[in-house]
Amino acid sequence: LGREVHYFSEIDSTNNAAKKLAADGCPEGTIVVAEEQLTGRGRLARGWYSPFGKGIWLSVVLRPPFAPMEAAKCTLMAAVGINRAINAVTGAGCGIKWPNDILCKDRKVVGILTEMSAEMDAINYVVIGIGVNVNMEEQDFPEEIAATATSLAMAAGCRIPRMKLLTAILAELENVYSTVKTSGFAPILAEWKNQSVTLGQQVAVNGIDRNFTGLAVDIDADGALLIKTPQGIERVLAGDVSIRPS
Ligand code: BTN
Repeated sequence: LGREVHYFSEIDSTNNAAKKLAADGCPEGTIVVAEEQLTGRGRLARGWYSPFGKGIWLSVVLRPPFAPMEAAKCTLMAAVGINRAINAVTGAGCGIKWPNDILCKDRKVVGILTEMSAEMDAINYVVIGIGVNVNMEEQDFPEEIAATATSLAMAAGCRIPRMKLLTAILAELENVYSTVKTSGFAPILAEWKNQSVTLGQQVAVNGIDRNFTGLAVDIDADGALLIKTPQGIERVLAGDVSIRPS
């Protein structure tokens, strides 16, 4: 990864730029990084706060040999790699919240936005967009997210060198991707479960067409979250869950 690097001081969204490059045929592993995003995007049409020089705003282009249905695996795979890298570099003790967040002390430090283009039965490209809150201080966060977001610097109690962290993230993404290609998804899924802060918790699901609560008991081979409810096991492949304090 990162043989072709597109670096911007300021950009609308690194995912937008990466999608354009991917559609124009850029090689797998191309990355886009920016110091600041003016319209950083989150999941579910939300924005992503991306101030200058304080985070890692990164998009990676992959062309995985998966079926389009399996694209969710890219997000889980990325979460495992990023979690390894940030724990190794910062010692902050972060965990993964299904499907795509990394939390530190119950607050979000990383968000992942995976976007895909597929034709017929094959993936043309996947852009994995990664936002890491690195060196923000408490007062830097806008009011709407101040209670739910944190940064690695706040969690670790010291400034974190962004370049070292970026290098570690790219190296671990390459490791997890090559594991998936050579050994399949099982080892990554096992590590995801091990690092999970979601499994074993009571969660509220805010789905596109349904809301319910239950106990998060497992994640299946497709990366769907399995939730035990009085009506039986519910399977959630996309959407949002919040962990309910017990
Ligand atoms: C989320 O948790 O909702 C996902 C947030 C993803 C943010 C990253 S920052 C780099 C890339 N470019 C974007 O516009 N979004 C992703």
